[in-house]
Amino acid sequence: MKTHSIETIVHPGPADASRDVANRLIAEVHARPNAVLGLATGGTPVEAYRQVVEAHRRGEVDFGEVRTFNLDEYVGLAEEHPQSFRYFMQEQLFDHLNIKRERTQVPDGLAADIDEHCASYETKIRDADGIDLQLLGIGHNGHIAFNEPGSSLESRTRSVTLTAETIEKNARFFDSPHDVPRFAITMGIGTILEARRIVLLALGEAKADAVEKALYGPVTESHPASLLQMHPDVTFVLDAACARGIDQLAGRS
Ligand code: F6R
Repeated sequence: MKTHSIETIVHPGPADASRDVANRLIAEVHARPNAVLGLATGGTPVEAYRQVVEAHRRGEVDFGEVRTFNLDEYVGLAEEHPQSFRYFMQEQLFDHLNIKRERTQVPDGLAADIDEHCASYETKIRDADGIDLQLLGIGHNGHIAFNEPGSSLESRTRSVTLTAETIEKNARFFDSPHDVPRFAITMGIGTILEARRIVLLALGEAKADAVEKALYGPVTESHPASLLQMHPDVTFVLDAACARGIDQLAGRS
C-alpha cells in the first residue's frame, strides 16, 4: 500500500483557517470556472462558506458554471427540515451564490429507493468527470462524511447506520437526541478518494486527537480519516488549538 504524507497548514485561529479554505475554493473556481466541488456540512465550514459568499458579493467569484456534490444527508429528513443538509447548504451557501439548483447535488434523504438513489449519485459524479476539489470535516471518532470507523476503503455512496457517538454529537442541533435520524446516505471512502484534490478543515482542541491519528497513525479502517494518507493530494487546514499535538510529533517523522 502506497502512502503519502499529508500537507498540514496551521493557522493561529479558526478565522484564518476558514479564510484559507474559502480562498482555496475560490481559487479552484478561478482556475476552472466549471469546477466540480465536493462540499461538507457541519459547524466547521460555516465561516469558510460565509467568506465565499462575501467574495461572491464583492464580485470576485462567479459560480454560474460550477457544479457541487455534497457528502451526505440524513435519511428521513425532508429538505425543508432545518436540520437537513440540503437546508443547511441552501441557507449557508447556495442561496447566496449565482448557482442554479440543478447544478447542486445533495443526497435525497427521502428517496423512495435508497440503493438506487445512491447508485445514481455515483453515476452523476462520474458523468461530471469526478470531483476536482473535495472539502471535508472530521468527526471526533475519525469519521469522514458519515463513514464511521470500520467503513471499507472501497465503500461507495450508500446508506449507513450512525454510531451512538455521532448521534450524541449531532443531538445539539435537534430538540432531543431521539429526533436525530439513525441512518444517513453518505459518499463512500472509495468515492472520496477519487476526488482529484482533498482539503480537510478541522478547528479546535476537541478534534486534535482525531487529526493526529489521521496524520500520523496507522492507515486503518478503524480511523477512516487515516485512509486519506493513501491519496496523493490532501491538505489539512487547522487552527493552532487543533494542531496541539502536531508540533511535538513533527520532530519524530
Ligand atoms: C458533514 C460531514 C461530517 C462532518 C463531521 C464534523 O457533511 O460529512 O463528517 O464533517 O461530522 O462535523 P462538525 O464540523 O460539525 O464538527
